[in-house]
Amino acid sequence: MIIAANWKMNPPLADAGQLVSAYTQTNFDGVQRVLFPPHPYLVHMAMRLEGSGILLGGQDCHQSAAGAFTGDVAAGMLRECGASMVLLGHSERRAGHGESDELVAAKASAALEAGLSTMICIGESLDERERGRAEEVVSRQLDKSLPDGVPADRLVIAYEPVWAIGTGKVASETEIGAMHQSVSRQLAELGLGGVPILYGGSVKPDNAASILAIDDVGGALVGGASLKADDFAAICAAAELAV
Ligand code: PGA
Repeated sequence: MIIAANWKMNPPLADAGQLVSAYTQTNFDGVQRVLFPPHPYLVHMAMRLEGSGILLGGQDCHQSAAGAFTGDVAAGMLRECGASMVLLGHSERRAGHGESDELVAAKASAALEAGLSTMICIGESLDERERGRAEEVVSRQLDKSLPDGVPADRLVIAYEPVWAIGTGKVASETEIGAMHQSVSRQLAELGLGGVPILYGGSVKPDNAASILAIDDVGGALVGGASLKADDFAAICAAAELAV
């Protein structure tokens, strides 16, 4: 089970220090936790996480190794700051920064080149789901967002229906189960069987156990609830029971 905390553009640094201290106070057997803090916090978080077993990741990287790209961050820099993973293709980046599947694949290549593992996000919009196109859209995103030759042991997929992110709406167990089964089948066809598939979108303490019990759900990508130490711990405890 992998439980990942996506802090997005939160919280203030003083609160981040307290939150990460709370994270490190408990261990959860069989649960690999990953923290994706804002980039300026990485070095600070790396020091706080030392010896905790919690992995650190960046929330994005550029597709080039270096150069004149104001405001961007290279995968190698994330690694130098203590990250071992990078989150790519989150729907907030696809929507807010116009990131295409092809760009996500190029970023993933750069991340692999720099020695990072990749967590690649896919997920349909509400309109796509209502038109009955969810599986087709997600399948295309998966196909095009993966870089050539990505090794299975450096890849995690996060399925996050866009309409469930930050809205309090959660996909039904049937919807999650069907999508995870289809993603799992597609990964196996690509020679990537066994790659963990996380669910994300309004995962909270009260729904975590039932979501994590669904076949082919290998963990959760948690946004809002990861900013509350108790809520995040409760989700990790649910994962520990689901292992
Ligand atoms: P949420 O965010 O848990 O707040 O819905 C999940 C995500 O965007 O990764």
